[in-house]
Amino acid sequence: MKIWHPFTQEKTAITPLKIIRGEGAYLFDELGKEYLDMISSWWTNILGHANGEIAEAIYRQARMLEHVIFAGFTHNLAENLCYELSKFLPKDLEYFFFSDDGSTAVEVAIKMAYQYFTNLGEKKRNIYINLTGGYHGDTLGAMGAAGKHSRYHATFSEFFFETFSINFPRSPRNEATAIEKLKIFLNQNSDQICALIIEPLVQGAAGMQMYRSEFLDQVVSEVRKYKIVVIFDEVMTGFFRTGTMFAMDQCTENPDIICLSKGITGGFLPLALTIVNRKIYNAFLSNDYKKTFIHGHSYTANPIACAAAIKTIEILQRKEIRQNIEKIAQIHKRNLQKLDHALSKRQQGTIAAFEVESEEKASSIAKKMLQNGIIIRPIGKTIYLMPPYCITTEKLEYVYEIFTQYL
Ligand SMILES: Cc1ncc(COP(=O)(O)O)c(C=O)c1O
Repeated sequence: MKIWHPFTQEKTAITPLKIIRGEGAYLFDELGKEYLDMISSWWTNILGHANGEIAEAIYRQARMLEHVIFAGFTHNLAENLCYELSKFLPKDLEYFFFSDDGSTAVEVAIKMAYQYFTNLGEKKRNIYINLTGGYHGDTLGAMGAAGKHSRYHATFSEFFFETFSINFPRSPRNEATAIEKLKIFLNQNSDQICALIIEPLVQGAAGMQMYRSEFLDQVVSEVRKYKIVVIFDEVMTGFFRTGTMFAMDQCTENPDIICLSKGITGGFLPLALTIVNRKIYNAFLSNDYKKTFIHGHSYTANPIACAAAIKTIEILQRKEIRQNIEKIAQIHKRNLQKLDHALSKRQQGTIAAFEVESEEKASSIAKKMLQNGIIIRPIGKTIYLMPPYCITTEKLEYVYEIFTQYL
């Protein structure tokens, strides 16, 4: 028996670290050694490990109703969750479609965008616009929408959709050039373009690449001229990662569709939502079954996952959590300034990132950090920190002290 791990070259990988338990910002291995989880376990665990209140909510729900088919049936947990979320969303994002993880939230969005046009009788719209380097998940559709520039998925490129990639803007001058190129493409191909899909403000898996909200607003306002569906993939950026509940809260333009997952259950259980506006929803209302959105997963809107999500959103609204989020941002800012040998330093809310000279150096730093009980996971030459919001000032300062030694 051998477990095949994700994103892992099984030939060369070292034996994975066995984790026995978690508590707050810490994970503990078999020998009781503690590790600060500075990547919130693949960006999901926003409130810390083994949060007692979420665990209680899960337990209570499991004793009441563990699951029920979600076609033809509903339950209070799903309804309450959508109601709680709607308080944070622009008014027109009011139709909630459940799925299981970030990739399925994206699959749903890109299928909805395509079918939106076919339901309206426009059959030719099959080009997706993305931002170079974007990552939207590992299922075929999610890979396809991210397009051929993906650092991860080139092997599958023959299956990808036709895409146009906006150049990632590394400076204000780049922004202008990127917008010019986009305008030309839109002008020549507008009736074939289905949707824009983009990670707002921070491209996570591209290596925490950050860009200005003004640029995103400009991109959206350009594509809006051509009735193109706008999808914001907030799978990583949602739930205060970028300082605000959603990254889009820092923008002027709203999307037609957003995708949420990861932090939604506080890192306890897989759950995702694709939330759309009335324009999209209405295009699926018909007496013709072919216009139905024929998509669903066995565990859609699992009540236990919904209970975890409701509790997570309740906790996120507490003053002390909001203060901690603000405090993390300040600690990042102060310490990044002091990190002399770090390159391309950048920060957005609770995410801090910088580069080192080479991938080898980044992975050697990660190894040393691990020996010091700190978990990081560089992406290429990029080192980043994305702690759970319960991390203390002292611990976060400690992480930067260790960085200073190894840089
Ligand atoms: C922006 C974004 N979209 C989608 C996904 C895919 O999510 P999942 O891994 O839950 O399928 C990720 C995962 O990292 C992501 O960062």
